Amino acid sequence: MPGLHQPLKNEHPHEKVTEIFRRHWDVYRKVIEHDYMSHKAAYGRLHEILNSEIDWPFSFADLACGDAYWTSRSLKDTNVSEYTGIDLSEWALSVAEKELESLPVEHRLITGDFEDFDTLIDIPPDVVWIGLSVHHLEADKKGDFIKKVRETLPEDGVYMIYEPTLTKGETRATYFDRFSDIVKHTWIGLTPEELDIIFEHVRKFDIPEQPSDWIRLGREAGFRTADEVYTDPTGLYSLFKYK
Ligand SMILES: C[S@@+](CC[C@H](N)C(=O)[O-])C[C@H]1O[C@@H](n2cnc3c(N)ncnc32)[C@H](O)[C@@H]1O
Repeated sequence: MPGLHQPLKNEHPHEKVTEIFRRHWDVYRKVIEHDYMSHKAAYGRLHEILNSEIDWPFSFADLACGDAYWTSRSLKDTNVSEYTGIDLSEWALSVAEKELESLPVEHRLITGDFEDFDTLIDIPPDVVWIGLSVHHLEADKKGDFIKKVRETLPEDGVYMIYEPTLTKGETRATYFDRFSDIVKHTWIGLTPEELDIIFEHVRKFDIPEQPSDWIRLGREAGFRTADEVYTDPTGLYSLFKYK
């Protein structure tokens, strides 16, 4: 869920993040089960890209992996040889441990801040993936982070993200209006209390970007290519690939 859990590390100790994470996790699980954020198609696209572009054994870093429900599935029948998941929530990682049992490759799970992935992982990964988690950073921090990813990845490495995007001329405030409108009409499996949790967090913490800015940040970081490779049917989220 964009906004759920994201910026808390700056304001609260990890225990607090975990506590809030647990409280909100059920809401996020419902969102995933109803596929309101198009996880199925986005992670399906990730699977396709991994298979069409990487025909050698690759290591995969799943930053802010949560319970790894969708990554563990999208990595099946790819050339993945090693998986590393990083998340602030130990509780989420304990669920991820179970999800990853079905992925027949070596995996490790690290409790930590995804922004520090370069120091938490000894050998640079071939693929870095972030699902719905980098958008809480301000634009300049997003720029610093993507530069770090570029510097860490090997020459033939790939960075991919699935994140909230603004439409042309949209601001953070009008994005929120569009988001609320879509959610009120379509996320009908959630209770009013659950919707309130979502709205509060998205309003406070989500910082979506224009597709052109997500792409520009990649170019400025030194990636040769930066492309929007999937947009969900609501137009709220897109997948970007940087090489
Ligand atoms: C919205 S969930 C996304 C989970 C999964 N990647 C997906 O695509 O569904 C956000 C996750 O990011 C984690 N998280 C938030 N800020 C983080 C940070 N700075 N470092 C590591 N994990 C973080 C939360 O604990 C949560 O598991």
